[in-house]
Amino acid sequence: MTEDVISEFVAAVPMPAVVVDQSERIIAANAEAQTLLGHQMIGRHFATLLRQPQMIDAIEQSLRTKGPVKTRHLSNDGAQDTTFEVQCRYVDGIGAVGGGAVLASFLDVTHLEQAGQMRRDFVANVSHELRTPLTALMGFIETLRGPAREDATARERFLQIMADEANRMNRLVGDLLSLNRVESAERVRPTDRVDLTGQLQSTLTSLRPLAEDAGVTLTLRAPEQPVEVTGDSDQLRQVFTNLIENAIKYGGSGGEVDVTLTASDRDPAVRAAAARVQVVDKGPGIDAVHLPRLTERFYRADSHRSRELGGTGLGLAIVKHIVNRHRGRMRVESELGKGSTFTVILPR
Ligand SMILES: Nc1ncnc2c1ncn2[C@@H]1O[C@H](COP(=O)(O)OP(=O)(O)OP(=O)(O)O)[C@@H](O)[C@H]1O
Ligand SMILES: [Mg+2]
Repeated sequence: MTEDVISEFVAAVPMPAVVVDQSERIIAANAEAQTLLGHQMIGRHFATLLRQPQMIDAIEQSLRTKGPVKTRHLSNDGAQDTTFEVQCRYVDGIGAVGGGAVLASFLDVTHLEQAGQMRRDFVANVSHELRTPLTALMGFIETLRGPAREDATARERFLQIMADEANRMNRLVGDLLSLNRVESAERVRPTDRVDLTGQLQSTLTSLRPLAEDAGVTLTLRAPEQPVEVTGDSDQLRQVFTNLIENAIKYGGSGGEVDVTLTASDRDPAVRAAAARVQVVDKGPGIDAVHLPRLTERFYRADSHRSRELGGTGLGLAIVKHIVNRHRGRMRVESELGKGSTFTVILPR
């Protein structure tokens, strides 16, 4: 086969690919390979372009054994790292000398690596979140068996703390399961007709005791006529509950939490008829540095306060997934010292 034909074949490979023959020179490289490794590659010794030791070993081994070898190539274009899985396959009967050559093709596996990293981070976070209450429980069990054995008052107090910690673990597991459920259904469009006014009224009713304990006045403003959306009733309730609960827990010092429902025929945020639910508090607000990360799992703006209030840091991550499933948008505006506004926009 002539080098022209080889080049035509290599040009058709849909990822960076180079051919190295038994003289250890590059005899063909497609445009993707030139973008990755540099131009004017043809005729050069492969090791001058592929300098990473594991790459050199792989091509040498494949040329010697005439068999397949797999390796990795790391590249950095100045802005980001890219990881390639490189397959070296021996092709008989081509090349200038020795009647054979190695075709090395570079598959970009960066997104797989990132997914793996995210999974590892997630497991580390979950373990850490569970370990804290578990350590406390174990400590108090020790104390109750030993020093506090005969002390009735201490026992009562410790049992209360243990119950709180066990509740926190229970909430965490519950939140993880609901995040999982929401994520696996994210591509399935919801089908219930949900009356948002009624939904918000009943959510407010169940949160009234929490608001009263926190000294917060909770008000709902909604249009006269019902506002309906196609949605998942339970999930939407979870969205409103989390936002209002957050406003009471973190913004309650402002004394009021206002929930407003509005409907419009065309909302710029979703470019369609939509309903907007706004939850406004007059609390301490959230520093702008935290805003972009607020919906990440386990992210807390004020981690001390959130933990103290029994927060798992998963609430807004769940909200984000539910809103995505409804093809809606969530917006957060906040000013330090003035309060926060969380807006959910749902297409109607
Ligand atoms: N209205 C608000 N005012 C100030 N900070 C807020 C407000 N809402 C949320 N936050 C911050 O955002 C963080 C993330 O909220 P999120 O609801 O995801 O978690 P959480 O409330 O800590 O836990 P969970 O909702 O699972 O019980 C909170 O820990 C808090 O620091
Ligand atoms: Mg919350």
